[in-house]
Amino acid sequence: MFREINFQKCKTYLGWSDTSDQAALIDPVRDKIERYLALLAYRGLKLGLIVDTHTHADHRSGAFELGELTGAPVAMHRRAPAPHVKIHVEDGQMLTVGDLAMRVLYTPGHTPDSISLHAGDRVFTGDVLLIHGTGRCDFAGGDPAASFDSIMSKLFTLPDSTIVLPAHDYRGHTQSTIGEEKRSNPRLAGKSREAYVDLMNKLGLPLPDGIQEALQPNQSDVDSAALAFPNLSQLNSVRQMNPQELYERIKAGDSPILIDVREPGEYRGELGHLAGSQLIPLRELTERASELTAMKDREIVTVCRVGLRSATAAAILTSLGCEHVLNLKGGMLEWNDAGLPVEK
Ligand SMILES: [Fe+2]
Repeated sequence: MFREINFQKCKTYLGWSDTSDQAALIDPVRDKIERYLALLAYRGLKLGLIVDTHTHADHRSGAFELGELTGAPVAMHRRAPAPHVKIHVEDGQMLTVGDLAMRVLYTPGHTPDSISLHAGDRVFTGDVLLIHGTGRCDFAGGDPAASFDSIMSKLFTLPDSTIVLPAHDYRGHTQSTIGEEKRSNPRLAGKSREAYVDLMNKLGLPLPDGIQEALQPNQSDVDSAALAFPNLSQLNSVRQMNPQELYERIKAGDSPILIDVREPGEYRGELGHLAGSQLIPLRELTERASELTAMKDREIVTVCRVGLRSATAAAILTSLGCEHVLNLKGGMLEWNDAGLPVEK
């Protein structure tokens, strides 16, 4: 059984079964955590799994705080930037809790880390496919062509009777099916890939209010009160370095100073770290900036999981007077995927 439990435009789903006391929450919102805990207690359910379908830009995710309070693991796609994701999933992987089983569909487009969850007669589509709409693709990392391909090859190949449950609905729709969306979704029905990409590129929507105030804490699991996050123009002016370019520099004995801003568990975790890198978690960056003042004139490269937290760090270090800061593009995930050497 699944129920939407926010009763607002931003949807959170609670899943459970009669034969187990284990429950799952999909896309919990931070300001409703107390409501979720009360509901779980009222129904005698234990939270066994939390899933964020993607890194949200329009509200603070409740996943990490809820995970800390209940001990339930947080699952997200492997491209999710945040720390404290216990289960990194890929396309085709099964997520189970109690008697619930959900199959992960990798559906990028709205964001690079977007997944959908197929569970029996329904599919949770995150912000990729909405009811009579689709999720915008104009945030950093969004890609209209990928959105079209995800919808056509992963979602529209499910049975027509599959119920569509999105992460948002702005127009009062509560339910649809794959068949109905194929027939009547105005952005998709009868549209070629080119026409869809053109339409999405021309939407011209304003950015949501406080997007950086939601996005950067969701990417980093650092409360914005603990750190002055850079603004969009500071972030956009961060220069990037490709993994291969950095590798050549290290190999030639010309390494920049390498600052890894992940959490200690990630630094020593499955992706490893760069030899010679120094660990300064993002949450400690401002208070430990004095450690870097002696290096102000040197070239610094910041490193994290997928290159988003480290972009925040690079912008912060630049604002603190470091003149030559670059960001490792794609982070340790791209470095590993390129087969470059790591230390563990
Ligand atoms: Fe979203």
